[in-house]
Amino acid sequence: MAASGDRDRVLSILRSPRLLLPTALLLSLIFLSYSLFNHVPTISRIGNNHIVASATGAFSYQRTSPIQNATLGFERVFILNLPERTDKLDAFTLSSSLHSPTFDVIEGVHGSLILNKSLPTLNKLPQKETARNNMLGTWRAHLNFAQRMVRERISTAIVFEDDADWDVNLRTQLEQFAHGSQYISSAFSPPTALKSKSYGGPHSPYGDDWDLLWLGHCGVSTHPADPRLFIIDNDPTVPSPLHRVNYQSIPNMSGFSNSTRIVHRVRSGCCLYSYALSQRGAQKMLLAQSTLTEFQPVDIAMRLMCQESDSFKCIGVFPQIIDTHKAAGSIERDSDMTSFDKQQARTKGFTNNIVRSTRLNWAPLLAGTTDAIEVQFPEDTPEIRGGVSMRTG
Ligand SMILES: *[C@@H]1O[C@H](CO)[C@@H](O)[C@H](O)[C@H]1NC(C)=O
Ligand SMILES: *[C@@H]1O[C@H](CO)[C@@H](O)[C@H](O)[C@H]1NC(C)=O
Ligand SMILES: *[C@@H]1O[C@H](CO)[C@@H](O)[C@H](O)[C@H]1NC(C)=O
Ligand SMILES: *[C@@H]1O[C@H](CO)[C@@H](O)[C@H](O)[C@H]1NC(C)=O
Repeated sequence: MAASGDRDRVLSILRSPRLLLPTALLLSLIFLSYSLFNHVPTISRIGNNHIVASATGAFSYQRTSPIQNATLGFERVFILNLPERTDKLDAFTLSSSLHSPTFDVIEGVHGSLILNKSLPTLNKLPQKETARNNMLGTWRAHLNFAQRMVRERISTAIVFEDDADWDVNLRTQLEQFAHGSQYISSAFSPPTALKSKSYGGPHSPYGDDWDLLWLGHCGVSTHPADPRLFIIDNDPTVPSPLHRVNYQSIPNMSGFSNSTRIVHRVRSGCCLYSYALSQRGAQKMLLAQSTLTEFQPVDIAMRLMCQESDSFKCIGVFPQIIDTHKAAGSIERDSDMTSFDKQQARTKGFTNNIVRSTRLNWAPLLAGTTDAIEVQFPEDTPEIRGGVSMRTG
């Protein structure tokens, strides 16, 4: 009775002429934001990929819902692309439109244009000119990303190399990863010297005390200084151990099921298909790279920062959630730097470590036919026992 009386009163207020205009405005605002929101293509969750148990333990997790926004819960999204490689920019644009509608391009750099005198050292620079230029071009592009973050005071940003690829469930994976990075970053001892106002945490859904999130790599290892793990079980996006391709040592996964992913502090890693920096991490990267005493490829330089500097906090995930796509066609197209034999071609593209590759699934994703999603390595699907669950260990 009371409820229906209230409803009648609300209706009559809404019908009163004085309120007609504001009500109409309000309704059109709601409609507008609804249609804007829906303009972002959303990928339906595939398989039994819902979170059934929230992470356990006394740790209290922050909201991870901002990860569903246009910049994946980071302040900005960037891609590294040489202006001549318009083909790679086309491909990245299409893939990213299916997940993260907005990104900015950081132009790749030709090593041949980098003067010796603009380098912190010439120590260990390769003697061969092409090798020198390859190493320096990549190093400078990643450094320009850090420089841009510092110049524009960006609190957190993720960067992708332009041939990066990821699972069609990227956003779900990032939300799960974020619980892990919040947990792992929380346990680092607060760097009191760096806790001044301008160096404060990024207040990010990925946690407030980290420098680098190593999401797209070709091998990563845990850190003896912090052996704690965040464990995601029954994850249908985890490739079978038979199909994990890495180029350095990896975490010991033998105590886990084949469908388990872990988030952990990183001691060493290789390849920079994609990673995120906090403002503090970008500042530290600029400092470390502009005072180098010997040259090495930029991923090794980042690895040294993770392992040598107690205050450079790197968090990783294994298996990786971002990898690099090798497209069908001439393999000459793979690299911006090296020339391969023009005759060599592959008939089908692939991406290591990614079960449902976005690049291999453009057509079904655009058509909205998620039941036609192609699975890599269907013959070896790790056993799943129930929904995704997360725990600390
Ligand atoms: C997405 O969320 C992050 C974290 O809250 C925020 O910094 C960023 O500005 C948001 N992006 C957009 C486009 O609103
Ligand atoms: C740059 O330094 C390298 C290594 O010391 C040297 O071989 C090369 O000739 C230098 N290039 C120029 C243009 O001076
Ligand atoms: C996990 O994967 C390995 C390698 O493919 C396989 O030998 C093993 O039987 C799998 N374990 C389970 C429980 O399926
Ligand atoms: C890997 O983990 C298993 C089980 O947790 C353990 O028995 C084994 O000793 C570990 N291997 C190495 C090389 O640490």
